[in-house]
Amino acid sequence: MTQTHYWTVGPAGDPGQPAIREAAALLRQGELVAFPTETVYGLGADARNTAAVAAIFAAKGRPSDNPLIVHIADRSQLANLVERPDETAERLMDAFWPGPLTIVLPALPGAVSPLVTAGLATVGVRMPAHPVALGLLAAAGCPVAAPSANRSGRPSPTQAAHVRADLDGAIAGIVDGGATGVGLESTVVAVEDGAVRILRPGGVTAEQLRAALPAGTAVLAGAETAADAADAPRAPGMKYRHYAPRGSMAIVAGDDADAVSRTIQRRLDQAKREGERTGVLTCEEHAHRYRADVVAVCGRLAEPESIARGLFAALRRFDDEGAAFLLAEPFGHGGQGIGAAVWNRLRKAAEGRIVSADEAGRSENAGL
Ligand code: TXA
Ligand code: MG
Repeated sequence: MTQTHYWTVGPAGDPGQPAIREAAALLRQGELVAFPTETVYGLGADARNTAAVAAIFAAKGRPSDNPLIVHIADRSQLANLVERPDETAERLMDAFWPGPLTIVLPALPGAVSPLVTAGLATVGVRMPAHPVALGLLAAAGCPVAAPSANRSGRPSPTQAAHVRADLDGAIAGIVDGGATGVGLESTVVAVEDGAVRILRPGGVTAEQLRAALPAGTAVLAGAETAADAADAPRAPGMKYRHYAPRGSMAIVAGDDADAVSRTIQRRLDQAKREGERTGVLTCEEHAHRYRADVVAVCGRLAEPESIARGLFAALRRFDDEGAAFLLAEPFGHGGQGIGAAVWNRLRKAAEGRIVSADEAGRSENAGL
């Protein structure tokens, strides 16, 4: 056990303020420090220090073949990390940095610990758009490897309290900068022969990528199928159990929202009769439709960004309140805009269990 240090900082990331200076000093000494970014909280370590990076994998319980994203505060740091980016990569940096976009680039040999890249010849780099993150990275002065600051498999942390719940006593410090903004992780892309491939959908949407690139630049968005294919795990982390509550969750999908709600309630009632502690993942607009032990509202359907922002905290509620039989509305189904990332995380949280509202209705009716 370590005594975990807590600092509360304002929204501004003045690198001179004591909390940031102390946290940066710990990073430079090879310690682990969690900090807010605009997506989720990250668990940082000096990317050049193999012992420090090894400690990230140990604290998270993370499989060692899943590479880490390297965070920088300034583009001048790229010269020591990666080969000279091509024109397409430069354009993406111009358009989206600082921001929730990770770009996979050819690594300079020896630039970061081999544990960061999990033996790949590439490294994912991002410049976060959170003033506290930028202030900390600038004060540390080194490239910082930082996965999401959760125990492996748990929903990513969007508040310092989530980090504390998972990692208190296991890391040197937590910089509390309040709730994160986007709520889902960065989009991970690779640039291949001028085309941009989305390896993990996230805070920057496919539509935004297309709009920022010259007409005719292909943006390949089939990330889930590409990354899930056993023979081509391009963003290696995508193949693991992720974001999942401890209970068992299924998504109820269907075009008719009323039918979805009816199916969910019928199944909740049945589970309740069988003695289960039940939970439903819903939105402000539909919350009144449900009776369950835990009615977790992630956001407003009319504002998809709010669903992204609230998803992980809502999933954590099921664990906190002990709900084990869980059903979710099909947020992001169809995959437009930020919905692609929401659907990706929700599907993983449900470990692929998707029930059709219509079929469920029919088969249950047939049994009556
Ligand atoms: O928003 C985020 O990206 C957050 C915050 C803390 O910055 N970080 C984050 O890190 O989500 P993590 O470790 O949970 O996810 C990293 C993802 C994994 O899916 C990993 O496989 C992929 O990025 N990745 C990292 N390096 C890669 C590489 N060289 N090639 C392909 N995929 C890579
Ligand atoms: Mg993660």
